[in-house]
Amino acid sequence: SSLPPIYQGTVETYCGVRPEGPGAVSVLVEPSKTESYKTKDGKMADGASMILHLKELGILLVTGHKSGDAVYSVFKEDGTDITAADPASPLSVETCSTCHSGYEAFCVKGQCASGQ
Ligand code: HEC
Repeated sequence: SSLPPIYQGTVETYCGVRPEGPGAVSVLVEPSKTESYKTKDGKMADGASMILHLKELGILLVTGHKSGDAVYSVFKEDGTDITAADPASPLSVETCSTCHSGYEAFCVKGQCASGQ
């Protein structure tokens, strides 16, 4: 509970997806956008930008950009698009967007991690 609210929200949203919790994650950044990621300048070019790989679940949460705005999608490791149509699903664009744009102090144009 000493965690910032955005992390508490993340735990609430994703720890239910698997009884043991979501498991190991890693963040992948499109190589040409590494500098922008590190400085969190909010200036990522169009196209895929960042991936949050939920390793144990075999799911890729993808943040891309279009005209400077963040766009979200979800894929399996084999490339199947599993972005949920139901806005209430943890894997829907609406869910991503609500959290990623709801904590202004944390997320800049869809990027939430500090990049360090
Ligand atoms: C309840 C909050 C919440 C929701 C919902 C959420 N995220 Fe995130 N996301 C975060 C936080 C917090 C981080 C940063 C974690 C860290 O500090 O490493 C993050 C990190 C990421 C990253 C790594 C790059 C970055 O921004 O730091 C990607 C990619 C990502 N999320 C995509 C998604 C997608 C796609 C969805 C929807 C399917 C989604 N997220 C839903 C809170 C959320």
